[in-house]
Parts: sequence; structure tokens; C-alpha cells
Amino acid sequence: MSKSPNLVLPAIGGIALMLGAAYGFSSRNYGADTIALLEDRVEKAEARVSTASDKAKAEAERITALELAVVEAQEQAAKGTNLTSPAPQMDGTYGLGRVAMAEEIAAWDVDVLPDGRGLPVGSGNAFDGEEVFADKCASCHGDFAEGVDNWPVLAGGFDTLADEDPVKTVGSYWPHLSTVYDYVYRSMPFGEAGTLTPDETYAIVAYILYSNDLIDDEFELSNENLADFDMHNKDGFVVDDRPDLEYATWRAEPCMENCKDAVEITMRSVFLVETPPEGGTNSMMNPAKVEGLPSFSADGPSFIPEAAPKPVKAAVEPAPEPAKADDGDALIEAGKKVFKKCKACHQVGDGAKNKTGPHLNDLFGRTFGSVDGFKYSNTFKTALEEGRVWDEASLAEFLSKPKAYMKGTKMSFSGLKKDSDLQAINAYLATFGN
Ligand code: HEC
Ligand code: HEC
Repeated sequence: MSKSPNLVLPAIGGIALMLGAAYGFSSRNYGADTIALLEDRVEKAEARVSTASDKAKAEAERITALELAVVEAQEQAAKGTNLTSPAPQMDGTYGLGRVAMAEEIAAWDVDVLPDGRGLPVGSGNAFDGEEVFADKCASCHGDFAEGVDNWPVLAGGFDTLADEDPVKTVGSYWPHLSTVYDYVYRSMPFGEAGTLTPDETYAIVAYILYSNDLIDDEFELSNENLADFDMHNKDGFVVDDRPDLEYATWRAEPCMENCKDAVEITMRSVFLVETPPEGGTNSMMNPAKVEGLPSFSADGPSFIPEAAPKPVKAAVEPAPEPAKADDGDALIEAGKKVFKKCKACHQVGDGAKNKTGPHLNDLFGRTFGSVDGFKYSNTFKTALEEGRVWDEASLAEFLSKPKAYMKGTKMSFSGLKKDSDLQAINAYLATFGN
């Protein structure tokens, strides 16, 4: 402790030295600094005065203008003019808008009619269309127009129109090809409507026809032949003649005999648990009681009782996931992706069912056309009789050109073009074997 004064003293000496130096430095400039500071203040004060006087001038001008307006209004009123009447009409029009230009009308006037009216000059084939389709449409509608997830399917469904749950596609359902052109040109790609050229549209429409097996890929669709193209369902629509042919047979004189003498309310529907099968008096009372409110009877009071408890729905079991492919195996993963093109029609994995196509479990080693309960085409029936058996080679050949390999097959699928896709799908399907 005895040492501390020695430590403090030199420190104080140091501070004194510094203060001295600072004083010496500033006192030399003191006079000039003060003058600058004072000049600055004067300048600022002058600026404030001049803005204030500008403002005052502006206010004064405004007041003069208002005074003038009041005087004018008083003069008008003295002459008896109605100040609130609308401005006089100049020439009988509102003077708004202008005549639309021919170019503007042309941009809106894109509708195409079944007889071909409205088609722009142009052409395209499925071969070119495939490229545009892959680029602009496949992300939602699938590479083969088979639809991705819940996006619309544009191909297939031909033999389903009479089913309870028909697959209505461009191919199976639309009666006029002009609608396809018009719809696609006008509104697709979804979110980027209006970006297609006429030639691109002809090519895409050709590709959709090709995906539906309605043309081959060399067919050149153009404004010349589009209207003459016969769609699958062209005769499937009829003019509604029910008012003439059918309504009369349903209409009969109402029966007005044997009526009840008096009408009596026996039950209010809000009190019923559900619509009684027999009607009226056999109805069941809603057993629900609402606390604090009077209990009720058929005569009232009329308030809406608590809903009767609904039967608890058994939890829906999630659809069985297809067996998990080995994550490490890139080829199987790739195959799983390729299988998206098949998914619209085929299932694999536990609980796989026949859909548009047969399930594909245990495919390798399976005889062609042998899944129970699936209605195969004749070509597959014949293959079954011949005892042909699926292996990787036959599958690859089939999938690369289904219609060529199995002539007459009802599998509406144009084929996998890449070898890598064929290998991948082989590897993927092999994981669902035994
Ligand atoms: C971003 C997703 C998406 C893209 C990309 C897309 N579409 Fe669509 N498409 C849809 C949706 C959604 C509908 C249904 C629209 C509706 O019903 O209003 C549809 C409907 C259609 C239909 C009518 C289907 C039917 O049966 O009613 C056709 C034809 C069609 N699209 C063709 C095309 C073409 C051709 C392209 C590429 C140029 C394309 N779409 C790109 C989402 C898309
Ligand atoms: C648009 C529907 C559809 C698509 C898409 C589709 N298929 Fe098919 N597939 C069928 C139909 C229908 C059959 C039955 C063919 C017949 O009876 O002529 C079938 C038959 C088969 C068969 C023969 C099965 C047997 O029991 O002999 C195999 C294998 C097959 N498909 C694999 C595939 C694969 C793999 C894909 C995807 C790359 C695919 N399919 C895409 C509808 C489809």
C-alpha cells in the first residue's frame, strides 16, 4: 500500500502536461474561431427570416385569391346563377375513349371455330411439338400428356366414357380439334398464357394427337387440315332435344284427389336427428340437450338444438407407400422418377391394384397378360397362351415402342426414348419382385 502515492503522482503530472499543451494550441486560434462561429450564426438567422417572409408572402397571395373568388361568387349569386349546376355539355359526348385500332381487335379476336374460321396461317408436327411440349407443358401434363399428380390428363381414357367415372381427355372426349387449338393458344401454358406462336401451337396440338395415338409423328397439322380432323368423340354430343321429346311424357295432371282435410305440423325438422325414412310421425327426436335452455317438444320452442353427435369416422388408413427403394442406389431412385410416367395407369408395392393397367409387382418371371382380374387386349391374351415371360430384355423392348412390340396393345403410352430411362425402370420394377 505504501507504494501507491508514487504511482499516482507521475500520472497527475502527465495529465497536467497534456492540458497545458491543449490550452497553448487553442488559445492561438481562439479569435479566428469565434469570428467564424458568429458569422455562421448570423447567416443562419438571416436564412430563417427569409423563409418566414416567403411563407408570409405566399399566404397573403392565397388570401387575396380566395377573396377574389368570394367576390366573384357573390356577383354570380347576385345575377341568379345556380352555383351547383353541372358544367354545360360541350358537344353531346363525354369526350372519352377512342375507336379501337385494327391491331387491338386482332389481338383479342383469337377464337377458332370448328369449321376452322379464325385459325392463323401456320403448321406443325408432333415431332417438333414434342420438344415444345416437354419444355412448356410436361411439368404439369407429363411427358406423354398423361398428367402429373392432379394436373389434367390430356391423353387416353378412350374406353372409359361409358364408365361411372370416365376419364375425359382431349383424346377421348373433346369433339372438335379447333377447341384444342383455341384453348391452348389462348390459355396455356398455365400462368404464361399468350406466349405461344401459331406454329408452336399447331405442333403442340399435333403432339397431343400423337400422344393419343390419333396420328403418327410425321403428320403435318396446319390451318388447311385442322378443321377436317375427325376426333374420337365427334358424334358423342347431341343437340339437347329433351324439351321436345321427353318433357311431355314426364308431365301429367297433378293428382288433386283424396287430399287430407287439415294440414298439421307434427314435427319440426330442426328437432330431427336425420330425415326419417317413413316421414312425419315416426321421426326420432334429437336427444341433444342444450344446457340453460328449455327442453323442447314437437310444438316448440323453436331454437336449433345442438347437433346430434356424428358417428366418429374411422381414421382413413394412408394408401400403402410403394416399397422403399434403396436410397443408396441411384439407378433405382432414377427408376422411381421414370415410374411417374406409368403411375397414372400402374401401381406397384404392397396393396397394388389394377388400374388402367395391371399392377406391376413380381413382373420379372411373370407370364405376359397373367394378372388375375385384369382385362387384357387380344395381343396380350395371345402372348399368355404362348407362355411368353417378362424379363429385362422384353420389358425394355416393349417400353421403348409399346405399340410396335405388342401390336394392338391397349396401353396408350408412346414409349421411353432414353436407354438410361429403360435401365432405371428395369431396376426400379425389379425391387417389387420376390
Ligand atoms: C403450371 C401447370 C401447367 C402448365 C405448365 C400447362 N398447363 Fe395446361 N392445364 C393446367 C391446369 C391447371 C389446367 C386446368 C385448367 C382449368 O380447368 O381451368 C390445364 C388444362 C389444360 C387443357 C384442358 C384439359 C381438359 O381436359 O380440360 C389442355 C388441353 C392443356 N392444359 C394444355 C396445355 C399445353 C399444351 C401446355 C403447354 C403449352 C400446358 N397445358 C401447360 C396446368 C398447366
Ligand atoms: C395410359 C396408361 C398406361 C401407361 C402410362 C403405362 N401403361 Fe403399361 N399398360 C397399360 C395397359 C392398359 C396395359 C395392358 C395392355 C394390354 O392389355 O394390351 C399395360 C401393360 C403393361 C405391361 C404388361 C403387364 C402384363 O401383365 O403383362 C407392362 C410390363 C407395363 N404395362 C409397363 C408399363 C411401364 C413400365 C410404364 C411406364 C414407363 C407403363 N406401362 C405406362 C397402361 C399404361
